[in-house]
Amino acid sequence: MSMTVLVVGASGATGSQLVEQLLIEKHKVKVIVRSPDKLPESWKTNVNLQIISASILELSDSEMSAIVSDCNAIASCLGHQISWKGIYGQPRKLVTDATRRLCKAITSNNLQSPTKFVLMNTTGNRNCDLNESISFAQKCVIGLLRLLLPPHLDNEKAADYLRTQIGQNNNSIEWVAVRPDGLINEDEVTNYEIHRSPTRSAIFNAGKVSRINVGHFMASLINNDNLWTTWKGEMPVIYSKLWVDKA
Ligand SMILES: NC(=O)c1ccc[n+]([C@@H]2O[C@H](COP(=O)([O-])OP(=O)(O)OC[C@H]3O[C@@H](n4cnc5c(N)ncnc54)[C@H](OP(=O)(O)O)[C@@H]3O)[C@@H](O)[C@H]2O)c1
Repeated sequence: MSMTVLVVGASGATGSQLVEQLLIEKHKVKVIVRSPDKLPESWKTNVNLQIISASILELSDSEMSAIVSDCNAIASCLGHQISWKGIYGQPRKLVTDATRRLCKAITSNNLQSPTKFVLMNTTGNRNCDLNESISFAQKCVIGLLRLLLPPHLDNEKAADYLRTQIGQNNNSIEWVAVRPDGLINEDEVTNYEIHRSPTRSAIFNAGKVSRINVGHFMASLINNDNLWTTWKGEMPVIYSKLWVDKA
């Protein structure tokens, strides 16, 4: 069944892979991007793709409600730019604020059936609903990252918002927070594994996953109701089975 899906962070390295996967599945896709000029030419002529030119946090509440009103699913691949301004400048809570505002917009529309929300998160974040244990050394490093790297805290808070504020029994929103390990670039979807919790240390023994595999898994969650039911309200971890390090 064709769905309408909003992707934020669609101009990014993973977001663009997710958009491609959704288009392959013949869904109607909306993207909100700051610089439409940078998007692939094929997107600009694709009748199934609607490009909204805006900076996500600068949209008003009513504009956001209107954009999400016909969406069956929303996916966020937002992330801070790897630059001094991206890491330490505003908006420090890009991912959390976008998640919170998009969820409020969904709720304000009072739709008949729940909207799926898929958040790209990180294995550096723990699912506090599960008893995920990490070593003392890893706890120290994560504590430092939380203090020194605002984007890490932002990722933690965005998932916390879904876990604690939207929760498991929300009438308007069902969610999955996907946790990739170290991201790499590959051209093709390859075999990947999904786990309820990390099977290796995100800090001292990180695995790898290609952005295209992350996009494929996020699109599959949106596409496939059985997969969705399996992971709804959880924070699945994704690793590629084999990888060639290109990035
Ligand atoms: N690197 C890793 O190994 C790793 C591992 C696990 C998880 N993650 C998480 O995954 C995220 C996504 O990774 P990626 O490599 O796909 O990121 P990316 O290529 O840097 O994409 C980031 C996206 O966020 C958008 N964005 C950034 N700042 C914005 C702002 N102020 N307002 C609106 N949009 C903004 C960018 O839009 P523009 O194109 O307009 O800048 C872009 O679409 C990372 O940032 C990180 O949190 C990373």
